[in-house]
Amino acid sequence: MALLSLIYLLVFVSFTSPIDIETPEGLELVAEGLNEFFTTGREPDYLRETLQNNQLRNIFRDNVVENEDVNSKTCFFCHVIVNLLIEQRRLNASRELLATEGGYLCVNLAVENERVCKGAIERHIDILLYIVDNTPDLDSTRVCGSVLQSIGCSSGNNFNWSIQLPSGGSPFTPKSYDKKQSFKILHLSDFHFDPDYTPGGNEDCGEPICCQSDQGKPNSSETTCGYWSSYKEADTSWKLVKETVKQINTHQFDYLYYTGDIISHRVWETSIERNTKSLSQIYSYMKKKFNVPVFPVLGNHEPNPLDQWPPLDVQDEIISNRWLFELVAKLWSPLVGEDISETVLKGGYYTVSPKAGFRIIAINSNPCYSYNWWLVLNDVDPYGQLQWLADTLLEAEKNDERVHILSHVPSGTSECLSVWAREYSKIVERFANTIAGQFVGHTHQDEFYVYYNCSDDTQAVGAAFNGAAVTPWIESNPSYKIFDVDSKSFNLLDYEEWTFNLTLANSQPSAPLEWYKLYRFTEAYEVDNLSPTEVNKLLYKMAENHALLDDYYKYRYRNGDPGVEKGCDDSCKKKSLCKIATTITGDDTQCRRFTELYDRGQ
Ligand SMILES: *[C@@H]1O[C@H](CO)[C@@H](O)[C@H](O)[C@H]1NC(C)=O
Ligand SMILES: *[C@@H]1O[C@H](CO)[C@@H](O)[C@H](O)[C@H]1NC(C)=O
Ligand SMILES: *[C@@H]1O[C@H](CO)[C@@H](O)[C@H](O)[C@H]1NC(C)=O
Ligand SMILES: *[C@@H]1O[C@H](CO)[C@@H](O)[C@H](O)[C@H]1NC(C)=O
Ligand SMILES: *[C@@H]1O[C@H](CO)[C@@H](O)[C@H](O)[C@H]1NC(C)=O
Ligand SMILES: [Zn+2]
Ligand SMILES: [Zn+2]
Repeated sequence: MALLSLIYLLVFVSFTSPIDIETPEGLELVAEGLNEFFTTGREPDYLRETLQNNQLRNIFRDNVVENEDVNSKTCFFCHVIVNLLIEQRRLNASRELLATEGGYLCVNLAVENERVCKGAIERHIDILLYIVDNTPDLDSTRVCGSVLQSIGCSSGNNFNWSIQLPSGGSPFTPKSYDKKQSFKILHLSDFHFDPDYTPGGNEDCGEPICCQSDQGKPNSSETTCGYWSSYKEADTSWKLVKETVKQINTHQFDYLYYTGDIISHRVWETSIERNTKSLSQIYSYMKKKFNVPVFPVLGNHEPNPLDQWPPLDVQDEIISNRWLFELVAKLWSPLVGEDISETVLKGGYYTVSPKAGFRIIAINSNPCYSYNWWLVLNDVDPYGQLQWLADTLLEAEKNDERVHILSHVPSGTSECLSVWAREYSKIVERFANTIAGQFVGHTHQDEFYVYYNCSDDTQAVGAAFNGAAVTPWIESNPSYKIFDVDSKSFNLLDYEEWTFNLTLANSQPSAPLEWYKLYRFTEAYEVDNLSPTEVNKLLYKMAENHALLDDYYKYRYRNGDPGVEKGCDDSCKKKSLCKIATTITGDDTQCRRFTELYDRGQ
């Protein structure tokens, strides 16, 4: 083991530059010290301090990569730590010992504080041990390569598989976009309902979610949790859920799409009971309040613990997600209007045709999320779902149906396993003439994404729209969207986004919420409709006229004061362009094209 660490160290030191001269020494100390501590139980006196000088603060929080300066030493840490722990497990280290070691690393590397680390490890450790014990040739390359893909640790992970894509398919030809004959679909996402939300609580709590009843008193009025919710790490109060539903019902619409994440960010204290309670409460409430069919998908926060999607043949009651699939099959069937249990029980996905010529395919994209440890055990098309998607689209193509795809995690997210995203993008290209719309959630930002033809990278063949979020987590105003849809082709014509000013609302708790229309897509961006061709044109316009990216930035946060106040400089604007044009992480073809255009624009 020591030898392995040494090899990693040598490889790291000799090939990684530029690197701070002091850093390799620090890293060497960590590797040696951890090895000594874990094998002998003696903690070398420098170890704690060294770890504390090389912290991976909050590395597992959603989107932390965008906010924090995580660098290549993180991959090195990952390899050293993972190999040490695997080695120990092979030597029959107990669950208790490994949990203690994990806790020591978690706290001293400032991943989270002590109670969060403890709660999280207690929830994840049986899964991790199952995977280690059932993967005889496991090493850190697979683990760090998937878990830390988003910070570039994936080299050499060998994740490379393909689904069977049916032959055929014709060049993309946009069909009718007729404003005269249309209907409306309401898109709602990411409630993150927090049963523990505490107005007057402490907004500055340092934990993954604040405004909890057990986080002490705020030390100033500026850090006091508001009446409805808070812009910091806070989720949606029950009051805000009710008000949002009430507001939505002031509109006329035919269908409602809900793109996932019901459970709050109190990730260190999830349980089957607590999650069941929140899921039942929200979906029963939707059934009671909405008179139209509701089409939901699962979010990465729904399982216990979050992000975990074990294969179906894992029978262990504690680890299995059977409870979740059974629960949502029961809660969703009445919302959708027919029994969708059969496929939901196979992996949380389903398809229905709510009217002739129109099909909805709801997939569970969460298994692609890199914090799903089960990818380490087997990364090949979890639940056979992408194959099912391709097969289902082929049927739809034969039957001349037009399809809307609903999912939670967008494929281009840096935490979505790149090979999964590649196969998904291939499906989008192959069925460009069948797919009329894609709806996603998860990032909590108002965003869209453009899919390109991989044989002709100037041609847009698909577009996905993010429903943003009801939760303000983080720095955003709560929102929802209403789409106009062509009644014949089911193409997306336009949308409006609605929101309210959370600063204002919290400052006058007894006043009714002042919801307003933030913008209408075709007006704000001066395009004809939401076709892939039009949004591709918009990307070119944004690269030329940077003021459009200022608007895009404000809309991402739905005018949320703290989000908007941060402002968006050139580097931020280029990131926006890249995010829109990247649907497979690691494939930067479009990102390079549009940043080059940006540099020539104004
Ligand atoms: C670990 O435990 C297993 C099963 O009890 C045993 O077969 C194996 O020899 C042990 N390995 C070591 C290194 O002690
Ligand atoms: C994946 O495998 C295919 C076929 O074996 C190969 O052509 C391709 O280059 C591989 N891709 C990567 C990223 O390794
Ligand atoms: C993608 O480009 C190739 C090569 O130009 C073309 O044959 C194919 O039809 C295109 N696919 C779509 C969906 O337009
Ligand atoms: C407020 O309290 C937090 C701990 O909850 C502390 O870290 C912070 O420094 C305090 N701020 C002020 C201005 O006292
Ligand atoms: C939201 O309301 C606050 C308080 O009235 C105000 O200061 C702020 O400018 C408003 N934000 C926006 C984006 O209008
Ligand atoms: Zn979410
Ligand atoms: Zn999510």
